[in-house]
Amino acid sequence: MSKASLPVVQTVGLNKVFKDFWRRPRVSAVQNLNIEIKPGEVFGLLGPNGSGKSTAIKMLLGLLYPTKGRISIFGRPPTDVAIKQRIGYLPEESYLYRFLDARETLDFYGRLFRQHGQVRRERRDMLLDMVGLQHESKRRIGEYSKGMARRIGLAQALINDPEFLVLDEPTSGLDPIGTRQIKDVIRRLGDMGKTILLSSHLLADVEDVCDRVCILYGGKVQAEGTIKELLAQKDVTQIRADKLRTDTIEEIKSVVERRESKSIEVSVPTGRLENLFLKIVEDAQAAKVETSGAGQAGAIPEFLGAATDDGGTLIQSLIQAADKEVKSEPVPMASPESVAPKPSQKVLDELTKPKQPAHEPGQSSEEATPSTSPVGPTKPVQADRSIIEGLMGQSDSAAEKDRGNG
Ligand SMILES: Nc1ncnc2c1ncn2[C@@H]1O[C@H](COP(=O)(O)OP(=O)(O)OP(=O)(O)O)[C@@H](O)[C@H]1O
Ligand SMILES: [Mg+2]
Repeated sequence: MSKASLPVVQTVGLNKVFKDFWRRPRVSAVQNLNIEIKPGEVFGLLGPNGSGKSTAIKMLLGLLYPTKGRISIFGRPPTDVAIKQRIGYLPEESYLYRFLDARETLDFYGRLFRQHGQVRRERRDMLLDMVGLQHESKRRIGEYSKGMARRIGLAQALINDPEFLVLDEPTSGLDPIGTRQIKDVIRRLGDMGKTILLSSHLLADVEDVCDRVCILYGGKVQAEGTIKELLAQKDVTQIRADKLRTDTIEEIKSVVERRESKSIEVSVPTGRLENLFLKIVEDAQAAKVETSGAGQAGAIPEFLGAATDDGGTLIQSLIQAADKEVKSEPVPMASPESVAPKPSQKVLDELTKPKQPAHEPGQSSEEATPSTSPVGPTKPVQADRSIIEGLMGQSDSAAEKDRGNG
C-alpha cells in the first residue's frame, strides 16, 4: 500500500461479544466490522440505538478489547501510547468535573498535554469562542444544560489540536441552532484536513457533514458508501428552475409525454424547518434578546491549523514508561512516520510535521493479540437505499429489540 493511501483507521473482522457474569456470551455488539478511514475524511457511523456504534468507537480508541479482529490506527495498535496525542475524543457521556467552570475545565485538559500558560490561555479562549460559551465560561459545568456540556466536551476534544477526531454523538442534546453550529465546525475541521469519525443516529447530521458513512444494525454493517452513492435515486430525473409560466410548464409536459411517454410531476418545493428555525433564532440574537444559554459559535481557532508539539513531553515520558514493559519482538505494522498527510492540504503538512514520535514503541505485553497485526484491505459492503428507509422507520422498534436482547 502506498504511503499516500495509508488509512488513519483500518479494521478487519472486528467483533465484540459482551459476556455475562459466568462468561457466557450475552450480547454480540459488533460483528465482522471492516472499515477504512483515509486521512482527511469525515466518516460517519450511523445506526439506531444499540447498534454497536459506541462499542466500535471504544475498540478503536483502545478502551475496549475486541473479542476478535484487528485494528490499526495511524498504522499502530490502538493501545499504543504514542498515537494518543494525535487523537481527540468526545465521549458519548460527558466525564467532566462538575465543580470546575468552563475555563478551568479547558485549562485542566491543556495542563494534561503540558501546554504552556500562554498557549493554554489562548487555546482556551479561542475554543470557548468557537463553541459559543465565552459568556458563560465562569459558570460551573454542573450547572450547564446538556447541550452546553456537549459544547465544552467538543472544545475539550480539540485542545491538543488532534489529527484524528472521534466524536460519539456530537450533537446529542443540542438545539437545532447548536446542532447546525457544531455541524459547521465539524465540516470546517474536515475541510482543514482533520480526519473525523463521528457516530450518530440522526440521519440529517450525518448527511450534512460526512463524506462517507457506514450504516450499522445489530452490530453488523448493512451499507457503506459516500452519501451521494447511498442516496442517489438513479431512476429519477429532477429538473429545477426559477418559477415558470403555466404555458411553459404545459409545453415541457407535452414534450416529455411525446418523447418519453412519461408524465411529469410539477410542484413548488418547501424549505426545511431547520432553516426557518435558524432564521428565527438568528433574528432574536441580532435583536440581542437576553439568554443565559449558549451564544453564537465563533471562528475556528487558528491553532487547529497550525503545527504544534504540545503534549510531546508527556507522551514521551509515557512511552518511556511503556517501553520498560515491551517485548523485544517488533510490531509488524507501519510506523506513524509512514502515515502520509493529504497531499493537497498544506495545513495538514504542517500539522503532521512536528508530531512524529521520536521513538518506536513496541507491543505491550498486555495488548490483545488481535489488535496488533497489520490489517488488510476491507471489502466494501453493497449500498442499499431500502436499508436507510428501513432504519428511518424502524429505529424505535430496533431500539426496543436491542434492549430486549441486551
Ligand atoms: N459494557 C457492556 N456490557 C454489556 N453490554 C453492553 C455493554 N456496552 C454495550 N453493550 C451492549 O452492546 C450493544 C451495542 O451498544 P452500543 O452502546 O455500542 O450501541 P450504540 O449504537 O452506541 O447505541 P446508542 O445510539 O444508544 O448510543 C447494546 O445491546 C448494548 O446493550
Ligand atoms: Mg452510543
